[in-house]
Formats: sequence, C-alpha cells, structure tokens
Amino acid sequence: MSNDLMIYAHRGYSGRYPENTMAAFKAAYETGAQGIELDVQLTKDGEAVIIHDEKIDRTTNGTGYVKDYTYEELSKFDAGSWFNPSFSKERIPRLQSFLKWVTEQDKEMMVNLELKTDLFDYQGIEQKVLTLIEEAGLKQRIIISSFNFDTLKRVRQLDNDIAIGVLFEGIDEEKIGQARSIHAEALHCDQSFALSKGGIEAIAQGLQLRVYTVNNHEDFGPLQTANVQIVMTDYPEKQS
Ligand code: G3P
Ligand code: MG
Repeated sequence: MSNDLMIYAHRGYSGRYPENTMAAFKAAYETGAQGIELDVQLTKDGEAVIIHDEKIDRTTNGTGYVKDYTYEELSKFDAGSWFNPSFSKERIPRLQSFLKWVTEQDKEMMVNLELKTDLFDYQGIEQKVLTLIEEAGLKQRIIISSFNFDTLKRVRQLDNDIAIGVLFEGIDEEKIGQARSIHAEALHCDQSFALSKGGIEAIAQGLQLRVYTVNNHEDFGPLQTANVQIVMTDYPEKQS
C-alpha cells in the first residue's frame, strides 16, 4: 500500500525565488508544502546562517567564504539580485530568524536542516543548531541531515531522539547500517537509490526514504509507488 507523498520545498521555493532566502521560504509556505529543506553553515563569529555553498560568490554580490565573515559583515550582501533584481533586498538569513518565523506561522511546517559540513567541519555547529532548535521550541518539527556522517554521529551524541536523516548520493547500501547505528529515522537519497533494491531493503529495515531533488512532477508517482515518504523539489507548487 502506498503512503501519502509529502512535498518539501528544496532550499525553499528555489525554482522561482532566490534559494535559501526568506522570500523563497515564505513562498514555499504559501504553496502548502509540508516542509522546507535548507542548508546551514557557520560564520566566523559562530552564527548559524542559511546558505548552500561554502562561498558566497554564486548567490550574493560578494566573494569569499562564509566562514571568513562575521554575520554583521555577511548581512550587508545582496542575496537576491543574482536571481532577479526584484529580490535585491534579500539577505543571507540567520537560522535563528528563520526558526522564529516558523513559530509565527499558522500552519505547522516541517523543517529539514541540512548541516553543510562537507568541506569545512564547522566546529560546534551541531550544538549551536540544537540550542537554536530548543530555544525556538521546534524539536518535534525538525529533521537534521548531512552528507557528513561524523556530524550526524555528533548530533546523536548530543541529542538522543531528534530526527536524523542520513544524506548520500547514488546507490550505497552501507548507509542502511550507518543510519540504524545512530537511530536515524530515514535515508535522504536520490531517485536512483529509492528505486533500487537498496530502497526496498531500507524500508524493510524500518527506515523512511526521502528523495532529493525531484523537479519533474511526473517522477512523483513512481516514487510514491516505491513507498517514498517525502520528495524535495525546487517546484513545490501544486499541479492541477
Ligand atoms: O538535503 C537534500 C539536498 O539538499 C542535498 O543536496 O546540494 O542540494 O544541498 P544539496
Ligand atoms: Mg541541501
């Protein structure tokens, strides 16, 4: 029996708004998507900020690494014009501000925080993020994921029941055992894994499958048939 497929907006409504900005998150909320996925890194002064790349070059009018700027410095850059000049007021959001916004909305959304520790192992990012979640009172609505398994192990050591998704690319059945070893509830995988025998095995072993990044809505049906729980898409709008 197939479950109901849930839609998470990948980097917010990033197909039509500048990714990982409040404009993209607000637009995602308006679509009625059940969740938002976003990427977290740390600034030089230890502020958790929402941005995908380690460098600000692609998505702002600045250059250089996130880790080399204080939040005060980073907040000056325009994070919207690269996408469209009409978004020139957008800034790199602080995670704290985003979480506050989530608590202020009428509808309850889920949030997948992807900790971007692939290139830099931002020291203390796990505790920083867990503290912000706790302060916002949002623990029941958060899923933490990362490509870096050491990061996820640290999250689990610090918090014994927050929801964790083990994120990876391609077909790698070893992730099933890894996920179980830290009591993760899901694998965050791409379509190739979800539709492989590894996907069936993961579900048989009690893991949920959450699939990124599915931008062709025609792919939703086969994923639902494969008992995928969530698809992450840049285009979370409803299809008529
Ligand atoms: O969390 C799923 C997906 O966002 C992982 O890839 O590069 O878009 O962060 P990326
Ligand atoms: Mg991501």
